[in-house]
Amino acid sequence: MNDSLIIFDTTLRDGEQSPGASMTREEKVRIARQLEKMRVDVIEAGFPSASNGDFESVKAVADTIKESTVCGLARALERDIARCGEALRGANSGRIHTFIATSPIHMEKKLRMTPDQVLAQAVQAVQWARQWTDNVEFSPEDAGRSELDFLCRVIEQVIKAGARTINIPDTVGYNLPWQFGDLIRNLRERIPNADQAIFSVHCHNDLGLAVANSLSAVMNGARQVECTINGLGERAGNAALEEVAMAVRTRQDMFGCDTRIDTTQIVPASRLVASITGFAVQPNKALVGANAFAHESGIHQDGVLKHRETYEIMRAEDVGWTANRMVLGKHSGRNAFKSRLKELGVELNSEEALNTAFARFKDLADKKHEIFDEDLQALVSDEAAADHEERFHLLSLRVCSETGETPHAVLVLTDNGVEHRAEADGSGPVDAAFCAIETVVASQTDLLLYSVNNITSGTDSQGEVTVRLNKAGRIVNGQGADTDIVIASVKAYINALNKLMGGEIRHHPQTPHAV
Ligand code: KIV
Ligand code: ZN
Repeated sequence: MNDSLIIFDTTLRDGEQSPGASMTREEKVRIARQLEKMRVDVIEAGFPSASNGDFESVKAVADTIKESTVCGLARALERDIARCGEALRGANSGRIHTFIATSPIHMEKKLRMTPDQVLAQAVQAVQWARQWTDNVEFSPEDAGRSELDFLCRVIEQVIKAGARTINIPDTVGYNLPWQFGDLIRNLRERIPNADQAIFSVHCHNDLGLAVANSLSAVMNGARQVECTINGLGERAGNAALEEVAMAVRTRQDMFGCDTRIDTTQIVPASRLVASITGFAVQPNKALVGANAFAHESGIHQDGVLKHRETYEIMRAEDVGWTANRMVLGKHSGRNAFKSRLKELGVELNSEEALNTAFARFKDLADKKHEIFDEDLQALVSDEAAADHEERFHLLSLRVCSETGETPHAVLVLTDNGVEHRAEADGSGPVDAAFCAIETVVASQTDLLLYSVNNITSGTDSQGEVTVRLNKAGRIVNGQGADTDIVIASVKAYINALNKLMGGEIRHHPQTPHAV
């Protein structure tokens, strides 16, 4: 019988640590729902000590998710652990994940602590966490560059203190697959109480080896892999969940374990995360890239038509690729709309929200006859983005774009309910509209990214725009969707401004003031 491999998703925590990938509470809950539907075992929802907003997000995920364990990250500090315990109170099954660095360079240069102090702090942290829950995970940060003897000492002691999962991070993505596999085997063989904990791995992708290192660890006895959708994460990212899950599933001849993942939910999860974070998936990305199952060359096409397995090792439908399917049209009623949203895992939290979304759906159906699932997803994202509590709202927009003339935009927006009319020229209609907004807002931001994607095919498709803004090192993404891409662009710009002007300072879990 196969062992089970626990899939621990950290899209909402480590994924969110990539600059620009920050998510609102509602966005996190939507992603968490999709992860639950995909049967992820553990969802790391965030770092509650980072800010009040992060605390509320972890709490909202913990209060919503019923089938997966919800985990929060905490430094090895009593106040972090207490904050994490509080945030997880409502969870059906909650886990506290506490960590402290164990590599010589991190202990000496970052923490300025001796190895003995680090060991004592690690044990103390696990004891604090055990006061909140039996489900405690401990990570020796930068384990991939830590000394083996010291790592063994720390792990033995934290298991004694009650940690039930030991996570081995390759924090800086330095390890090579055979070396990382040996590390896991050595730890499991040398630590006397190793059998009382599950060994987990958390690999970063700086050398493009995160998935290979994770799989090598699994071959050597790791039974939890920490990963993210689309490989999102700090710097070059984390191991991609979809690649780990499909490698293990496809090569059952090699692995003595399998995951519980419903792989048909992989593509919807990938799309949701890409659309919320604005981190587009490269076309040649394994499994979820647009070309992952496209056979361009004549020889390949001929082979696939004669016998699919000549060139395909997996079926596109097994990871959730489906042909665009028209799901609703202008004559569809409120109930059909509501039940399709439910099938997509979207539950609007009030009748009022449903009514507004339905009215927007009708408007869209007037402009675009065939409405696909992707349109509904965008419509709901847009609805969430236009949260009524927010500071800026677009009331109207007119742009003039004509050959030989300078593009010009005139718009009306509200700032905390006060109406402002603004106009400006620009190098194009989008530039003119953004310049007009800036005459009112004067945000002093840098535009880091402006991207437009069509949600479905055809020129009547909705355009989905992502705008990434930077203000004094704080980076946010805004999204907007509309069949008119200038309007979509303005919605995205205003959404980003709302996030930037309303948010609070967040602490990064791995900064020097960690302990
Ligand atoms: O990369 C890392 O070491 C981490 C830890 C906090 C687990 O993200
Ligand atoms: Zn990490």
